[in-house]
Amino acid sequence: MEHLKRKPLFNPEGDTDVRKRRMINGNTTNLNDFNNMKYTWVSDWYRQAMNNFWVPEEINLGTDVKDYPMLSPGERRAYDKILSFLVFLDSLQTANLPAVGEYITANEINLCLSIQTFQEAVHSQSYSYMLDTICEPHTRNQVLYQWKDDERLLLRNTFIGDLYNEFQKDKSPFTFAKTVVANFILEGIYFYSGFMFFYNLGRNHKMPGSAQEIRYINRDENTHLWLFCNMILELKKEEPELFTQERVNIYREMIREGCRQEIEWGHYAIGDQVPGLTKEMITDYIQYLGNLRCSSIGFEPVYEGHEKEPESMSWVSQYSNANMIKTDFFEARSTAYAKSSALVDDL
Ligand SMILES: [Fe+2]
Ligand SMILES: [Fe+2]
Repeated sequence: MEHLKRKPLFNPEGDTDVRKRRMINGNTTNLNDFNNMKYTWVSDWYRQAMNNFWVPEEINLGTDVKDYPMLSPGERRAYDKILSFLVFLDSLQTANLPAVGEYITANEINLCLSIQTFQEAVHSQSYSYMLDTICEPHTRNQVLYQWKDDERLLLRNTFIGDLYNEFQKDKSPFTFAKTVVANFILEGIYFYSGFMFFYNLGRNHKMPGSAQEIRYINRDENTHLWLFCNMILELKKEEPELFTQERVNIYREMIREGCRQEIEWGHYAIGDQVPGLTKEMITDYIQYLGNLRCSSIGFEPVYEGHEKEPESMSWVSQYSNANMIKTDFFEARSTAYAKSSALVDDL
């Protein structure tokens, strides 16, 4: 199989028998069929993603407006850099997910990807809302386009963008699988380590609105991770030749390299300049995340001895785990569309 078959737009001769449905290279009718699904987890996923609907402006950033100028230079520098990186990641996701969906021949998966794409757009907009509220227009643009002045940020963005670009040029099943793994790394390592910085500010009683925005985003990212994890597990069943030991080692190497870059970036953007965090805590947390992601898709860990959540970082889950509603997280939002309280835990 040299090239993937592109999903047809209209295909009356497509297979309606769910047993014939495939993630890639299937013969889809492309009809949005919510009644007949091959992948049973999709209905739970869809329900959860729909229940998570939120609007960035719901969150009050009044305290953040006062806090932002009072942050120490190290904190403000990290805030700007990490926000800039997140804006890039969510923008890239918004643009790339439809490109992935073009080659997925299971319509129910494409439905999920459409919702995810919408959510990534909301995330990008929430960063703009944060910047709009807390900074002057000049600072705002400096944050948004920081990769123009910061070579290290540009380097990171280039590495991530190039991985996605590879699939733009080469539509082979293996390149597709690498893109899906790259997506999984982006969602499950880069985002989570960025979120952790905002939660640290939150636990130090700084920028509470920003931390709250991030919690909503994090809740969506949980579902994205769930989606991509399941996509990988289905691909493993349907396309075992994409998961030979040799190829799995390539994917694991991608995860290890993603972690290495994230650690380097964390040391550069946060370093030892932010109260509550140290370089060592950053390293431990990211190595743990790398192992956690590996184990959820059945891969051997990439950092031996870092399988357990580091004790110094146990506070992160109090923010990132939306099931722990002992804070006023959900009380702060309008209940009109708060249909869901349960959340599938971090994978
Ligand atoms: Fe996102
Ligand atoms: Fe996402």
